[in-house]
Amino acid sequence: MKLLRSVSEVRDAVKRARSEGKTIGLVPTMGALHEGHLTLIRQARARCGFVVVSVFVNPTQFGPREDFARYPRSLDEDTRKCADAGVDVVFAPRADEVYPEGFDTWVEVKGLTEVLEGESRPGHFRGVTTVCAKLFNITQPDYAYFGMKDYQQLKVIQKMVSDLNLPLEIVPCETVREPDGLAMSSRNAYLGPEERRAALALVRSLRQAREAFDSGEREAAAIKVQVENLIRAEPRASIDYVAIVDAEDLRPISRLDRPVVVLLAVRIGTTRLIDNLVLDPNAD
Ligand code: PAJ
Repeated sequence: MKLLRSVSEVRDAVKRARSEGKTIGLVPTMGALHEGHLTLIRQARARCGFVVVSVFVNPTQFGPREDFARYPRSLDEDTRKCADAGVDVVFAPRADEVYPEGFDTWVEVKGLTEVLEGESRPGHFRGVTTVCAKLFNITQPDYAYFGMKDYQQLKVIQKMVSDLNLPLEIVPCETVREPDGLAMSSRNAYLGPEERRAALALVRSLRQAREAFDSGEREAAAIKVQVENLIRAEPRASIDYVAIVDAEDLRPISRLDRPVVVLLAVRIGTTRLIDNLVLDPNAD
């Protein structure tokens, strides 16, 4: 496995793999790799002849008061994990390799990015789409792997790929959870022991939504109240948003008569966690 720092080295490595007839898979990450990331990597490994994992804490997707400076960084460990998982290239550029002096071009998806995470984190998705467009151009993958954990991000990236006719397929991957149900996240490392327990309010509330849905509830407002009440019952938790929206266009719905997603953003102390649950009335 190679650890590469420059765009030109990655381009050369990908070109060689292509000339050998290999399919290219890309897994974009910000590092601090956990089992969620590794599941994406394994799926890429199973399907693609050449797997690139990017590790880049992308400054442009963090707001001025967000956690860019303290975001966990563990490149040595990440590289080891990637080697163990059979990755071909880890691309870990320095910030000025991605954003050199004078960088001035942005990719922005409208609409989908103006709600939910986009509303709470202005500029966030512009940073995500710009860096992903660059990573897609640098590695030219056939497949790029994204987790459903970041549901809105997945939809925004799919929209960008479709709107700009980018020649790759986005592969969505199920959310990987801790044994007690908490969605794995690099940010879980911020939680103290009491907060870690409090974070289960997210899990409980989504389980409640699932139960209400399974027992026939189809009114979004009724499910939303139950979810909010369960989160409010946890004193360390404060709700940023709870939303039940169309699973494709993320517009609010009132009746669950098509696939929907329950999206949560909750602060536990100073740590902001997100999670979601897809509910499909057409599934058996
Ligand atoms: P990061 O948070 O490191 O996540 C990288 C990828 O792993 C994303 O596609 C995310 O959805 C997925 N992922 C994270 N936790 C997961 C879990 N528990 N189960 C399944 N997949 C999970 O998302 C980003 O980085 C950045 O925004 C990025 C796309 C790399 C652009 O900078």
